[in-house]
Amino acid sequence: MTAVVTEELAEPYLLGVLATAGLDVEYVRGEGDTLYYRRGDEEVPVLDFVGGYGSTMLGHSNPEIIGYARELLAGATPIHAQFSRHPYANEVAARLNRIIKRETGSDESYFAIFANSGAEAIEAAMKHAEFERFVRIAGLRAEIDAHIEAVRAAVADGTVAAPEANALIADVTAHNEALAGRTPLFLAPVGSFHGKLAGSTQLTYNPIYRAVFSALAAQARFVPVDEPGAVDAVVEAERGWLHDLVIEGGRVTVVQRPFPVFCAVVLEPIQGEGGIHEIPEAFVRDVQRVAAELEIPVVVDEIQSGMGRTGSFLASTRLGLRGDYYALAKSLGGGVAKAAVMLVRASRYLRDFEMMHSSTFAKDSFSCLIAARVLDLMEAGDGEVYRTAESRGTELSNVLQDLMKEFPEVVKDVRGRGLMIGLEFHEQGEAGFAILRELHGSGFFGYYMSGFLLREHGIRTFPTSSAVYTLRFEPSVNIGSADIAKLAGALRDLCEQIRDTDGQRLAPVA
Ligand code: F0G
Repeated sequence: MTAVVTEELAEPYLLGVLATAGLDVEYVRGEGDTLYYRRGDEEVPVLDFVGGYGSTMLGHSNPEIIGYARELLAGATPIHAQFSRHPYANEVAARLNRIIKRETGSDESYFAIFANSGAEAIEAAMKHAEFERFVRIAGLRAEIDAHIEAVRAAVADGTVAAPEANALIADVTAHNEALAGRTPLFLAPVGSFHGKLAGSTQLTYNPIYRAVFSALAAQARFVPVDEPGAVDAVVEAERGWLHDLVIEGGRVTVVQRPFPVFCAVVLEPIQGEGGIHEIPEAFVRDVQRVAAELEIPVVVDEIQSGMGRTGSFLASTRLGLRGDYYALAKSLGGGVAKAAVMLVRASRYLRDFEMMHSSTFAKDSFSCLIAARVLDLMEAGDGEVYRTAESRGTELSNVLQDLMKEFPEVVKDVRGRGLMIGLEFHEQGEAGFAILRELHGSGFFGYYMSGFLLREHGIRTFPTSSAVYTLRFEPSVNIGSADIAKLAGALRDLCEQIRDTDGQRLAPVA
C-alpha cells in the first residue's frame, strides 16, 4: 500500500502511547504464532503470545482456512444476500449445538443469532434478555389488570365498597406504572469485560471504560466473586414489588408480587481482560441458584475462553457453569473472518426477536462458512485440538510456575487454564529505583514490559488492560516447546532487569 498522507489521523493519541513503550510497530505478515514487521528491507519475526486477544487459536493465516477462504472468494460466494436462506449459518448453529450438547449433557437445542464482533453478540444477548423481562412484566401486568377489572366489577355490583376500592386501584396503577418504567439491571462479577459498545461497556467493570457512558444504557451490579452471600445481598438490595389486588371476604387488599428487576447474569468463566481469573465454583453455584430463583437467564461469555482454548470447547463446562445463552466470537472466525454468535436455549427463545434485531454484515456466507470450517478443524481427530491446547497450556504454565519459583520477589502469581494463562508481577510502586516507580506511576507497567520483550527478544505479549501488572499468554494450539523455551528465556531476562538492575533497559523509548 502506498502511503498518501504523513499526518496521523487514525487514533494518533493511542499510537503515541504505544510509541513510548516501543510497541508502535507495523506488522506486515502473520503465520502460525509469528508476526513479521519490516525494518528496512528485512522482515523481523516476532513470536506472538497475544494471539489477537484470543482470536488465533488455530494460528495466524492458518493454511487450511486461508485456502478455503480463497476458494470461497474465487467461487464468488454471495456475501451480501440478506433476507434469503442461510444454510451456512444453520451449519454453524448445528455444529455448535452438537458440541454444547456433548459437553453439557443437555438435550435442549440453542437458537443462534449472528453478529460481527464480541460486543455485538453480547448486546444481542442483553436485548434478548430484556425482551424476556419485558414479556414477563407484560404478563404480570395483564394478570394484575384482570384483577383490577374484577375489583371494578365487584364495585359495580356492590360486593365491595366503592371509595376504598377506587383509591386502591389508583394507588396500585400508579405504583406499577412507576415500577415498570424502572431501568433494568444486570448482574456481573467484579472484574468482568464484555465489550465497549454502549450496552456492553456497562457490563464491563473497569470504570475508565464504563463511567462516562453510564447514562446511555442499563447498568450492572458488580458482585465480588469471593464473598459468600454477595450475590444474594445485591439481589436483596434491589428487590422491587408490583402491587396486585385481591378480594377477600368482601374487602379489597393489596398484595405484593416480585417485579423482575434483573435482566440476566452475565459472566466469563475465566475473566480475560480483567486479569485471567477463573470464576470460583462456589460463585458459579450461587449465580446458578439465584438466576433460577429470579427466573433470569445466565449468559456465559465464552468469547475469549471458548473455542477449545482451555482444553474443552467451552471453559464453562468444567466449572459446572451452564448457560441459557452463550456468546462466541474471536477464534470462531479462524483469525480471518469477523464472526460472532449468540445462542439462546430453545425454551427461553423468543422468535419475535428475529423481527427486531439484525445487522447488515452478520450471518453472511463467508464468515459462516469459515466458522463452520473452523469448528470442523476443532472437532477433528476426536477433539485433538482440545487435548493439545490442554497439554501445551500445561507446558507453558509449568515454565511460568518455575519462573515464579526462581523470581518470587518479581512474579506474584501464575494462573489460568490451557492456553489462557496470566503471569502477574508484584507492584513496583515502592521499588528501590526511580524508573520502576515511574513505570508504576504511568499506569502502563505491563505495556512497558511488553515493549521490552518485543524490542529485546522479539516476543509479543500484552497485559490484560484492566490489570496492567498481569501479562497474558494466549498463543495458538500449535505453539511449540522451542517457542515456550524462548518465552521463558525472555521472561527470565525481564525478571532479572526488575530484580537486579535500575530498570534502564525497561525505560520508555525516547
Ligand atoms: N467478551 C469478552 C470475554 C472479551 O474478552 C471481549 C474482548 C469481548 C467480549 C468484546 O469483544 O472486542 O470483539 O467486541 N476482549 C479483548 C480483550 C478486547 O482485551 O480481552 P469485541
